[in-house]
Amino acid sequence: MTNGIPPLGFGTFGRSGTAGIDALLFALETGYRHLDTAQSYGTEWECGEAFRRSGLPRSEVFLTTKITGDNSRKGKLIESLQRSNETIGVDAVDLTLIHWPVSPGGRLPMDEYLSELAKAQDTGLTRLIGVSNFTIADIEEAETILGPDCLATNQFERHPLLRNQKLVDACASHRIAVTCYLPLARGRCAGIPAIEAVARAHDATPHQIALAVSLCEGHIVIPTSGEPARIAQNYAAGDITLSSDELDAIRAADRNERQINPIWSPAWD
Ligand SMILES: NC(=O)c1ccc[n+]([C@@H]2O[C@H](COP(=O)([O-])OP(=O)(O)OC[C@H]3O[C@@H](n4cnc5c(N)ncnc54)[C@H](OP(=O)(O)O)[C@@H]3O)[C@@H](O)[C@H]2O)c1
Repeated sequence: MTNGIPPLGFGTFGRSGTAGIDALLFALETGYRHLDTAQSYGTEWECGEAFRRSGLPRSEVFLTTKITGDNSRKGKLIESLQRSNETIGVDAVDLTLIHWPVSPGGRLPMDEYLSELAKAQDTGLTRLIGVSNFTIADIEEAETILGPDCLATNQFERHPLLRNQKLVDACASHRIAVTCYLPLARGRCAGIPAIEAVARAHDATPHQIALAVSLCEGHIVIPTSGEPARIAQNYAAGDITLSSDELDAIRAADRNERQINPIWSPAWD
């Protein structure tokens, strides 16, 4: 279940400047049709520029941005999203996420920023809305504020070494699509015997298998790379179909090994 979000997206953290535009353009030429940026990444302009250079119609490229903690404050969210749209060079993005439920300066009232986010959607600044790094308690609280079926996705860390299954199941029960960030565990899936064995059987790399697992389970992945060969290799993971035995073997490799855990993180499930 992806709620209309293209399942194979391209992450843009670190893809700034000329090298970033080159990587983004190569990703679009390879076939990616979903770019994941954020106000805090400094890559919103690069996404717009790569999109323009690609010559693709606007309807074919799905653009996501994320609202920073400071911009989540009342009176700032809508203005900041207008600025993001201007920076990217579009009238509206396809998806806007609240980047973290807890801002670096302390917790913000959820009803305040979610109401603003819903208003941004109503006024046409974003087609879909969602959240990122929300826990089960957070998505339950969000649903009491917005009502059911308002959040398109929750984006959080997920890869074979951190399957985050309780949260994945909770999202499914609320019909919220799962977007897996760090889907390659930043390269740490290499050398894991269960993943390597499946990779050999498919003449694939362990990184491709890491992506294929979440894709076969029906989730969205947003890997990134600055290397054309890897950008293409990651895209080709979308063609790999894993058997239920292979999926079970890789599921057993879960180590609950989290890599993104800043000081403002919520109490993870
Ligand atoms: N919502 C959030 O709070 C949040 C947090 C973190 C990330 N994100 C999003 O998720 C995206 C992906 O996360 P990420 O970039 O941190 O992690 P990732 O996609 O899991 O890993 C990227 C790293 O793996 C390497 N890599 C890429 N493809 C490879 C391949 N085929 N073989 C071997 N190594 C490979 C890349 O190096 P090279 O460039 O050298 O290839 C890069 O260092 C980000 O760009 C961002 O859009 C969101």
